[in-house]
Amino acid sequence: MKKMVVGIGVLLSLLLWFSSCGARIEESEEISGSDLLKKEEELAAEGENYIVVGFSQVGSESDWRIASTESFKETFSQENGYYLIFEDAQQKQENQLKAVRNFILQEVDYIVLDPIVETGWDAVLQEAKEAGIPVIVADRQVKVADESLYTCWVGSDFEEQGRRAGEWLESYLEEKGRTSEEIRIVTLQGTRDSTAQIGRTGGFAQILERNDNWTMLERRDGDFTQTKGQEVMEDFLKTYSGIDVVVSENDNMTFGAIEAIEAAGKTCGPDGDVIILSFDAGRAALQAMADGKINVEFECNPLLGPLVSDIIQKLERGEEVEKLQYVKETYFDSTMDLDTIIQERVY
Ligand code: AHR
Repeated sequence: MKKMVVGIGVLLSLLLWFSSCGARIEESEEISGSDLLKKEEELAAEGENYIVVGFSQVGSESDWRIASTESFKETFSQENGYYLIFEDAQQKQENQLKAVRNFILQEVDYIVLDPIVETGWDAVLQEAKEAGIPVIVADRQVKVADESLYTCWVGSDFEEQGRRAGEWLESYLEEKGRTSEEIRIVTLQGTRDSTAQIGRTGGFAQILERNDNWTMLERRDGDFTQTKGQEVMEDFLKTYSGIDVVVSENDNMTFGAIEAIEAAGKTCGPDGDVIILSFDAGRAALQAMADGKINVEFECNPLLGPLVSDIIQKLERGEEVEKLQYVKETYFDSTMDLDTIIQERVY
């Protein structure tokens, strides 16, 4: 595995890229072109070796995503021996394709890709492979004809999260003596065709199927954002009467849904009219649960930076890495000691 010295060549090309494409490099959001040249001189003088990592991030659509970006920036610092080129794709696959192609042109040492959707990556990953650049996929997955196009993937078991949500609802309804009542459910889905959406929808559907008294009124795309979540929920409330359960495939859509429910004069959470199941379990959502507005949260860990760094370090040492690496996750509900959980929560 080659290690690149960040010197005149790379930094000049980064600068050229920066000036031709606008503020693309994360570093360059904070430093100007002349600062970048100064940095080049400093680094060359220090004679430091850095592992250059190009990271194509999905966007900044959610609290989860912001925590993920922070995790990568914190991990891939110069103090830790990395030079990070960060690209925010603003939820557009075309931007990610451009970013990956630019990373290849820059001859980075590693490409880290958090793909917005699963398909459409074969050609660009083939180009990375031909350039000899290992690609580590993080969080969401890619569906490619040739699995050798990426080195490995690390992230959540989204299908398991969805299944757990369904199982939790089964036990909760049983506890409340509601097993023979019709249970009317709506789903706010995450970005269509993303692994997080496919997995959570699919996992929950497995449990839905075995509960004859559950009716899925509608599933609709809320794109993982608070604004879309609120809009879709407002529409659901106008279209359907007596909604018992909202399955919201991330916290930000949940916040939007709560606003819509309250604006419609209804309540939600353990003592409310509507049962809320949400995914991510960020601190703000746990606080909303402590405030009585959410019933249950299924954890999705955004702190993937250190795990990707471990993979890179192994590859640097010439070690094998596992192809699929699932992170361990749990769930939280209102019966737990939420104050302590919130205090300990780092995102
Ligand atoms: O891919 C992870 C999902 O994407 C998170 O659940 C969501 O909040 C984010 O936007």
